Amino acid sequence: MNARNDTCNPLVALVTGASSGLGESIAKNLARRGHRLILISENRTELFRVKHEIESECLSSVTVLEMDLFDPSSVERIFEFCESTQLAVDILVNCAGMFVNIDREMNDIVSIENVVNLHVTSLTKLCFLFGRAMTDRKRGYILNVSSINAEFLDPASLTYGPTKRYILALSEALHCEWKEHNVRVTCMTPGGIRTNFFAANRVYIPPVIQYTLLSSDSCAEIGLSAMFRGSLRVTPGIYGKLQSFFLKKIARPALYALIKKTYFSMKNRQK
Ligand SMILES: NC(=O)c1ccc[n+]([C@@H]2O[C@H](COP(=O)([O-])OP(=O)(O)OC[C@H]3O[C@@H](n4cnc5c(N)ncnc54)[C@H](OP(=O)(O)O)[C@@H]3O)[C@@H](O)[C@H]2O)c1
Repeated sequence: MNARNDTCNPLVALVTGASSGLGESIAKNLARRGHRLILISENRTELFRVKHEIESECLSSVTVLEMDLFDPSSVERIFEFCESTQLAVDILVNCAGMFVNIDREMNDIVSIENVVNLHVTSLTKLCFLFGRAMTDRKRGYILNVSSINAEFLDPASLTYGPTKRYILALSEALHCEWKEHNVRVTCMTPGGIRTNFFAANRVYIPPVIQYTLLSSDSCAEIGLSAMFRGSLRVTPGIYGKLQSFFLKKIARPALYALIKKTYFSMKNRQK
């Protein structure tokens, strides 16, 4: 299977976090490739907006499911919905994500539970429930969206990077284990993308990074192409690769105090 013959042979793709940003771009890209879509987020209005935009542009059929992935039991409901409607998912894209600031992390334990449930528990259950069905059918693709933050210390959040590191480690294990069943698992580790992610989560982004943000459409195209090629991992764009290279070198334990001081003094100057 590859991206080209997939266009002649439509597959069923389930995309989480499809109501905005990168997930929306991935959904639209898959629709242009001719695939049938199941879109998930907890924002019904935005999901229907994306559905209408896709259906007005392409012939693809779009089903929307309003689900809160902070609650891991929603994964069984998604799987049962697909079983009962006989939608055999061939492509799973785990894109839903959130960033919790350190201030909130230290004061709101529920925010910690939510980020772990979203990035770890729900994502893992989605991989195993749909991935097991794919291994039985001997075909399938999974694209897990991690981040370059998986590999360096970020004083802005103590849980975002570690949970994204789990996504990278899980994807590597599944990639190796399920390859022999013709199920390709790819991990995308993007650098900064131009979406509402930072504003919505009140994250300060230094100007040097802001100028190098990648568009969500380019990121989606690179991520999906890597998935259809069966790559283990992809960091889209030259700036994403440079951010990853330098941040891995700089943001490490020995320099944490300096990084933290620099980051917060830049952030406070911005206010
Ligand atoms: N932007 C970047 O620079 C960047 C860099 C590296 C990696 N990433 C990753 O890329 C992914 C997409 O981020 P984005 O930049 O496109 O930001 P975004 O526009 O804020 O998208 C986040 C998506 O996740 C969904 N989501 C959040 N909590 C959810 C929940 N409890 N249940 C179901 N869906 C939920 C949101 O849906 P609702 O509408 O329901 O909230 C939204 O569709 C994330 O995993 C993020 O970590 C982003």
